[in-house]
Amino acid sequence: GGPAFTSDDGYLYCENKKIQDIIEKEKLGSCFYLYSKPQLSRNYQAYEQALEGLNSIIGYAIKANNNYKILQHFASLGSGAVLVSGQELKLALEAGFDPTRCVFNGNGKLQNELIFAVENGVLVNIDSEFDLEHIVKAGSVSGKKAKVLLRINPDVDPQVHPYVATGNKTSKFGIRNEKLEWFLDEIKKHPDEIELVGVHCHLGSTITKVNIFKDAALVMLQHIETIRTEGFNLRYLNIGGGLGIDYQHSGAILPTPTDLVDTVRDIVKANGLTLILEPGRSLVGNTSVFVSQVIGVKSNGNKNFIVINGSMSELIRPSLYGAYQHIELVTPPPVGAGVHVFDVVGPVCESADFLGKDRELPTPQEGSWLVVHDAGAYCMAMASTYNLRMRPAEYWVTEDGSVAKIRHAETLDDHLRQFEGL
Ligand code: LLP
Repeated sequence: GGPAFTSDDGYLYCENKKIQDIIEKEKLGSCFYLYSKPQLSRNYQAYEQALEGLNSIIGYAIKANNNYKILQHFASLGSGAVLVSGQELKLALEAGFDPTRCVFNGNGKLQNELIFAVENGVLVNIDSEFDLEHIVKAGSVSGKKAKVLLRINPDVDPQVHPYVATGNKTSKFGIRNEKLEWFLDEIKKHPDEIELVGVHCHLGSTITKVNIFKDAALVMLQHIETIRTEGFNLRYLNIGGGLGIDYQHSGAILPTPTDLVDTVRDIVKANGLTLILEPGRSLVGNTSVFVSQVIGVKSNGNKNFIVINGSMSELIRPSLYGAYQHIELVTPPPVGAGVHVFDVVGPVCESADFLGKDRELPTPQEGSWLVVHDAGAYCMAMASTYNLRMRPAEYWVTEDGSVAKIRHAETLDDHLRQFEGL
């Protein structure tokens, strides 16, 4: 977690509420996500402050966490949204996001999704030749001119895990630099259906060196100049999302939204542009912990395991990317508990089912609780029902220190409903 989650005397707190007390008061028996609502606001405000003096849109990448209460909260703070499916777009509109501050992204957008986006005045990123064709069609079917950005692959190495790198030459996203002219010619043929208003790039995720955003912005600036010379009225520079967070909890200082914006501030100002950012992880990642109960402790040979009731079904990032998320006990360990190196594993029938490997931890008591930190981004959003584990409940601690449920746990009835009447 971020500053919202602090430990003192061996107890872990969320906004000064003892997590153990929350567990007892809410009678929580299975794993759950716990958020800090004030931390959501603080993260958003950090972007707002960073952007002061610039024309800008903060587009929350809602794929990172689509809890409806969280969406409503960001919408109420004035955030825009970045969407990657028609369902996300529908949910964003319901939650109150202003469609003209929304961006629709993706390499496989469907025709009906595009029509829906254009009808609502959402900005649409062109990803490919066929995508452009479909957007032109959406413009003509809806009778509204589609406002589009060209997603250009700047070929800048984000220096991250290959699964979360996107802005390199051979990625499936965006168009190559050298195809720009073809796209401009094609767009010129459809002045009634589409209007080119900006350029977009997205380098990747978990980025911890902000100078690469400047490298990308400089590449994009060349394109902007070319495009403007050809007579287009370009207004938006969208440099995507991707700012990393401190998963390691090692005390290292990571770049902030201000550091990010400051690397491109002059470019944006000098060229009269509106800057669009698409943060996901850096808005929600540190706002949550995943809380699980210890079922038991065992060892096989020289390998020690803490078996918990949370698993890869609820939180797959460690299994999928080998991602590190810090693990910490919620209460002080029993007096004299030995410290050992443990794998923290779940009950799922799969060896990939681990939340942490080789973690030095005090031996916890059966029935006590621990957390996986920084679980606000791409954790609940990527949860599955594998092993017929039902997706867990979510809670948040609010500004006044009260605890509220913000999502019910899924039930077997929810599962069975999918087979009703068949
Ligand atoms: N914009 C675009 C076009 C994106 O593809 C993404 C994320 C974002 C914005 C938001 O990036 P962020 O600020 O959250 O880094 N499941 C992976 C992360 C996948 C990111 C996909 N794209 C994980 O758990 O690390």
